[in-house]
Formats: sequence, structure tokens, C-alpha cells
Amino acid sequence: MKGLVLSGGFGTRLRPLTYSQQKQLIPVANKPILFYCIEDLINAGIKKIGVVVGPNKEQVMDAVRSVSWPADIEFIHQDYPGGLAHAVKVSRDFLGDDKFVMYLGDNLLKGGACNYIRDFARSSNAASLLITRVDDPQEYGQALIDEREKIIVKLVEKPKETLSNFTLVGIYGLTPIIFEAIDKIKPSWRNQLEITDALQWLIDNGYRVDYRMVEGWWKDTGKPEDILEANRLVLDELRPENKGKIENSVVKGRVGLGRNSVVKDNSVVEGPAIIGEGCTISNAYIGPFTSIGNCCEIIGTEIENSIVMEGTKIVNAGKIVESLIGKNVVIEKGNSLPRGGRFILGDSSKVKI
Ligand code: TTP
Repeated sequence: MKGLVLSGGFGTRLRPLTYSQQKQLIPVANKPILFYCIEDLINAGIKKIGVVVGPNKEQVMDAVRSVSWPADIEFIHQDYPGGLAHAVKVSRDFLGDDKFVMYLGDNLLKGGACNYIRDFARSSNAASLLITRVDDPQEYGQALIDEREKIIVKLVEKPKETLSNFTLVGIYGLTPIIFEAIDKIKPSWRNQLEITDALQWLIDNGYRVDYRMVEGWWKDTGKPEDILEANRLVLDELRPENKGKIENSVVKGRVGLGRNSVVKDNSVVEGPAIIGEGCTISNAYIGPFTSIGNCCEIIGTEIENSIVMEGTKIVNAGKIVESLIGKNVVIEKGNSLPRGGRFILGDSSKVKI
């Protein structure tokens, strides 16, 4: 069985970050979301993985190649984000006649999908979907299920009227019959080839599509608040590790402190929190559920419940909460007149002051 991880798409809901950085590379607890997906497939025993790349593809390929994975990884180019079924279609040569698991590269599962993937490997069904119950089904593709038969009877992408509280989690067990289904469907109103339409074609044509419920939490990291929530959930299980230096400061709770990082000058770090390599934390407070990437300087500032990506410098900036801050950003309090905020912000930036 093969794995197919989707790392294309424009990620418009995460602009401006996604202008310069592919969504799946945004770090959660200092690790790109995409890497959790690849690891999950490998843990389930999959040895051949295709990664679908589109916008910012060089970046995704460089990041994946920087790790030595215990699996063969191939990249598949998707010329434009034509939908999830389009991503499967362009992967046809790679997938051949094998069963495969398609994993959306921006999805995180607490317990991973190993049990589900192993069950699917043994099953003879045309497709097997991972589903979960949600309170706000209008935001998602919905699945009507037959609990007695354990099958899906109907799938609809974000219907106007709620069909069911069960939604598809971004992990799909598929077999080569899906290519025939994709050839039969037409693009949707948003001009995408929808995987839900292809799956509905299978159901309508008598193929069995079963399901399994997610164990533990699941997070689709499409929006900034989802990424912060995923960061909290992952940090909640962090194992403390100190490879850096603590000078005249307090570090309490579960904290990961990277090599060549220093926490000094009366700083307080309260876990769960992770600080990467080569960071300086001086006269600062790093509060719970915060991830600080490599080579950051946090000076005279309080920050909690946030993600700060590598190379960023924050000096005397007061208190920062629930923020997603990109790479090489500088935030500092200046003394020059006239007083007032001075901003250089990319398109679609959001600032609350
Ligand atoms: P989405 O979150 O539905 O789309 P998106 O990533 O473009 O984001 P937005 O809606 O904010 O513009 O995509 C789900 C996953 O599938 C995500 O990991 C990106 C990936 N994807 C592809 O690889 N190719 C595609 O054609 C599409 C639509 C998505």
C-alpha cells in the first residue's frame, strides 16, 4: 500500500503567511505539520509515499529532503490546485494499481491513523473514510452513515442544510477504482474536482465505502486559530528536555529548550512551551502553549499561547497573546518621535492593538 500526502493548495485562509510559506510547512510545536502526516504513514508501515506539491513547491521539497525518512519519498507536481480528486488524478502514475491512503498535509491526529490504515490494508472495500462528529458541521463536508452496516450512504461538501454531524477527516483509504470515478465526475461550482463527488459516484454505483471513527482529537489547520489550537494540543503532550542554558531565571513545567539557547536575566518560562536552537530569551516571560522557533530573540516581552517562527526578534513589545508570527519578523518598541506604531505589513496582514 502507498501513501499520498497533499501539500499543494493556496492556503488563502492563512494569508499573509502562505504568500511566502506553504501552509503544510507552518510549524506546530516547532515541527512542520506535513512531517506529522509523513511520520504517521510511516508508523503505519507504509514504505512508499508520494507528496503532491504545487505553490511553493521548491520549499516543500527542500524541507522534506532535509530529513532522512525510513521510506521512499517521491514528489508529484500538481500544476494548479484543481481539487483533492485532481491531486489524486495527477498521482496516477505513482499510485499504479495499489491501494493507497491519501493524507491531507494540513491535518493532525492525536493518536495517528495507524489502526485505521492497518484495517484498511486488510479490507476489500472500495474506500474507507475516517470520520468524526463535530458541533459545527456547516463548515465541513458531511457524511450520512448507516451505523448498522457501517457504511457511508451519502457525502456532501458543505451543504446549506445540515445533513449530518459527521464530517470527513482528511485521511482517505482509496483503491484504483477511484480513478474511474474521478474520470466520471465534473468540476464543482468552485471549479474543483471534489473527492466527495468521486466517492459519491462509487456509492451510487454499488461500491462499498465504509468508515471508522477517529480516536482522540483531530485538527484541520486551515485557519490561524486552528494552528494555535493544534499547537496547544501537541504541546500538551510535550516531553521536557533541556539542551540549553538557564541563567538567573526560572523554567517551570514541561519545557523543551534547544541547543545553544539561553534563558537569562530574570526570565520566566512556564510550560508547556518549546524554544528552538540558538535562541536568546532575556528579561522575558514565555507563557504556556508557546512555540519559539530557532534563532529567535525575545527580550523584555511577555508572550503566551503563540507561535513565533525562526529568526524573529521581539524587543520590549509588551504582552503578546494568541499570535502567529512568521519568520524573520522584527517587533520592537522604538523611542523616536513622533510616537506611534510604525508598521510594514504584507498584504492581508492582521494586527490587533
Ligand atoms: P484546502 O484546505 O481545502 O485548501 P487550501 O489549502 O488551498 O486552503 P484555502 O481553502 O485556505 O485556500 O486543502 C486541503 C489540503 O489539500 C491542503 O493540505 C492542501 C491540499 N490541496 C492540494 O494539495 N491540492 C489541491 O488542489 C487542493 C485544493 C488542496
